[in-house]
Amino acid sequence: MCVRLLQNGAGGQAIIAVLTMACLGSARLCARLGHISARRKTPGAVVDPLVRAAFFKTQACSNSSSTSAAAPLVPSASSIQQSYTAKRALGTMHTQHPGSLPREDHTPVDPYRLLEDDLKEVYADMRQELIINTNQKLLQTISTYYFDGQGKAFRPMLNILMARAVNCHLDVHNGKLLPAQRSVAMIAEMIHTASLVHDDVIDQADMRRGKPSAPALWDHKKVTIAGDFILSVASQMIARLRNPDVTQVLSMVLTDLVQGEFMQLGSKETENERFAHYLTKTYRKTASLTANSLKAVVMLAGGDESISDVAFQYGRNVGLAFQLVDDLIDFISNTETLGKPAMNDLKAGLATAPVLFACEKYPELNPMIMRRFEEPGDAERAFELVHKSNGLEQTRFLARKYNMEATRLANSLAESPFQKALVTAADIIINRMK
Ligand code: FPP
Ligand code: MG
Repeated sequence: MCVRLLQNGAGGQAIIAVLTMACLGSARLCARLGHISARRKTPGAVVDPLVRAAFFKTQACSNSSSTSAAAPLVPSASSIQQSYTAKRALGTMHTQHPGSLPREDHTPVDPYRLLEDDLKEVYADMRQELIINTNQKLLQTISTYYFDGQGKAFRPMLNILMARAVNCHLDVHNGKLLPAQRSVAMIAEMIHTASLVHDDVIDQADMRRGKPSAPALWDHKKVTIAGDFILSVASQMIARLRNPDVTQVLSMVLTDLVQGEFMQLGSKETENERFAHYLTKTYRKTASLTANSLKAVVMLAGGDESISDVAFQYGRNVGLAFQLVDDLIDFISNTETLGKPAMNDLKAGLATAPVLFACEKYPELNPMIMRRFEEPGDAERAFELVHKSNGLEQTRFLARKYNMEATRLANSLAESPFQKALVTAADIIINRMK
């Protein structure tokens, strides 16, 4: 059984995800992915070990292990970036491959610690953008409600990490670049949040991140308009970037999000069609935002198509892994951990990856999927069958495949703390429990 899925990203690039589901043993499905080739940088050439040791001792640029005694334990991202430039310049004097440093420290880099300064004010800044754009007090209150900084901040973190990693890779540093890239991080988070506001109205959700949802607190019409308002402010921020290519890439996110949400309302007859439909829906609803916003930060840095495609594909793979884990968690977590009801997807009529995989072993799931688990007892029976099948393991396996591809792409960038943190970020996404 082989499903070939073609999706067109912005800029006319074809994104090809080949999902080959082959039998493992008697009834087991495994998902194997074919990947688009991202241009890999030549591995770092050999540098005189003494020279290398010398600059690792004197430059406060890499991880804490390679900082000088006088340097703070966790140097700021900007000081890392500046000293990285010096280190890279020295590196290019001794290697034939400018930009590719020898890989020698495999200590994981914590992205949240690394970006502490960058992320500290990001939610306050988004709230501020919303507040200054209206004098309607209630609109201010509703539209800022989800920007309380209590979320995981995955999207801003990924955007700023990619921005800093690529700025190191391309060796571009100017005062206006990072603020513009940080603005893309905010725009992406605002688009995401606007879509959650609308989604909570559509799903009639009571809770979001452990607190009452916006529609549980306010009139649905006002909440819907507050979602529109967030989107309108994000659009102004896009316009302020004054970059038509970036505008096009970020607009694509909106088209994808709306289509993804729409696709979720429908289902397909056959197993093959269903999986392809699920993956396209997942790309549009979740992965397009990370893929295109990461691409946008590279475009702002002046990266060519090969490097913007690395960012796009990293974001796409991380986004797909994120959603697969989300779909898995819905079956194994509880309301307290999730901050929203568990078994939510089945109750909402959605057949996600665990159910689609479980179908192979338990075909009785097929009619339930077609009637969107509407009959009494459907959701509970489907839940039981998913747990009896290998659907959860297969979903995790597929998520790991995407995670491995994201890691490979992150490793194709020149080594820097930010590049390493992109690897950690992909791992955080795959190992999360909420
Ligand atoms: C959460 O899904 C919802 C999304 C990620 C996107 C929703 C998109 C729209 C409502 C289209 C409109 C878009 C804009 C930009 C206004 P979920 O219900 O699976 O997850 P949940 O459990 O977190 O609610
Ligand atoms: Mg929802």
